[in-house]
Amino acid sequence: MRPMKGWRLGSLGDMQSLNGARYRSSHGRRPIWIIAAVSLVSMFFIFGYMYPHHSKAACHMMISSRGCKALADWLPPSPRQYSDEEIASRVVIREILDSPPVKGKTSKIAFMFLTPGSLPLEMLWDRFFQGHEGKFSVYIHASRARPVHASRYFVNREIRSDEVVWGRISMIDAERRLLASALKDPENQQFVLLSDSCVPLRSFQYIYDHLMYTNISFVDCFEDPGPHGSGRHMDHMLPEIPKKYFRKGAQWFTMKRQHAVIVMADGLYYSKFRDYCRPGVEGNKNCIADEHYLPTFFHMLDPGGISNWTVTHVDWSERKWHPKTYMPEDITHELLKDITSVDTNSHVSSDGKGGEIRSPCLWNGIKRPCYLFGRKFHPDTLDKLLDLFSNYTSIA
Ligand SMILES: *[C@@H]1O[C@H](CO)[C@@H](O)[C@H](O)[C@H]1NC(C)=O
Ligand SMILES: *[C@@H]1O[C@H](CO)[C@@H](O)[C@H](O)[C@H]1NC(C)=O
Ligand SMILES: *[C@@H]1O[C@H](CO)[C@@H](O)[C@H](O)[C@H]1NC(C)=O
Repeated sequence: MRPMKGWRLGSLGDMQSLNGARYRSSHGRRPIWIIAAVSLVSMFFIFGYMYPHHSKAACHMMISSRGCKALADWLPPSPRQYSDEEIASRVVIREILDSPPVKGKTSKIAFMFLTPGSLPLEMLWDRFFQGHEGKFSVYIHASRARPVHASRYFVNREIRSDEVVWGRISMIDAERRLLASALKDPENQQFVLLSDSCVPLRSFQYIYDHLMYTNISFVDCFEDPGPHGSGRHMDHMLPEIPKKYFRKGAQWFTMKRQHAVIVMADGLYYSKFRDYCRPGVEGNKNCIADEHYLPTFFHMLDPGGISNWTVTHVDWSERKWHPKTYMPEDITHELLKDITSVDTNSHVSSDGKGGEIRSPCLWNGIKRPCYLFGRKFHPDTLDKLLDLFSNYTSIA
């Protein structure tokens, strides 16, 4: 009889059949214990759901940290309350993205050069620009020495500049300076960031059409779970930048006007990178601001508005800290044909598993060659590139 009761604890029939004395017996105490435990746990879940920020501490007081993690995974994600600053920032950005593009009389592309000094490949760009006056403008941020120009298109196109330290926020500051100068001209609709070692891989008309007749920006962006990706995220960036939104990508972008404006409008997310992303911060976290700020910013605020790959080719196949620099002996018709016919992009993560993610380069849903520009080309490659220019840019 007794064991049976034990098994059927909690059923209404048993409860009713229990008299006061037996209720206080050692067997009878179990229902109360269980009810108490169940209520405590339920209260705990309700509390955890209502006050997600406080629940963590409470959790550690009562359960082991492993139990807490399991609990956190089980709980439905609670929406985080944005701060006043985040709400303001998001509403301004949304408004800019939702407003129809303002078009000038003519649409121009702003070619923005980030360089320490002179641009050794200027004459190749000169050849590229010839005959397309009125459809482009040039801006130069020379961080070290005032450039000596070989091409008329570059004369007096320097903007106010400042020192640039690799990997630091000063790199982003230079990009923002270029965007601000280029935005002053209402006819600039596309903004292309280039370096002194960049070359055009297509004719002007091809590049113009490729950028003007699409509504996305070509900003590189991917999730790298390894030490050189999400491993560079810092808790100081929380809560505005959750680790799961932290992204990586190459610096060289093309941006539509609305995107250039939202980059100008951003002070909040920018400040997180300015304060917490730099080489050597927190031990060996080599956070490189220009590899993370824009990919993360766009991934959070307009993920569908970017291509997630860059239109600027570079050769990382040597797997060193810096990419390969092409020398004169490398410059052949075959090399340029190979680069310009690539139509899938690839991202390699730094988690040591060597995982490579390949995806087709889609332009308005159609598979097209990925690259419009290339780097890094040594100054001595100029003559060979000039010889081959009309040949390789006539490919498409
Ligand atoms: C870029 O990636 C985001 C999310 O990872 C995705 O939503 C978006 O559609 C992608 N962009 C394009 C053009 O496919
Ligand atoms: C771009 O245009 C396509 C087709 O017109 C549309 O479906 C898509 O939502 C647009 N994307 C953006 C980011 O405006
Ligand atoms: C480009 O160069 C290749 C190889 O030298 C040659 O076969 C081809 O005819 C050239 N094309 C043009 C358009 O000049």
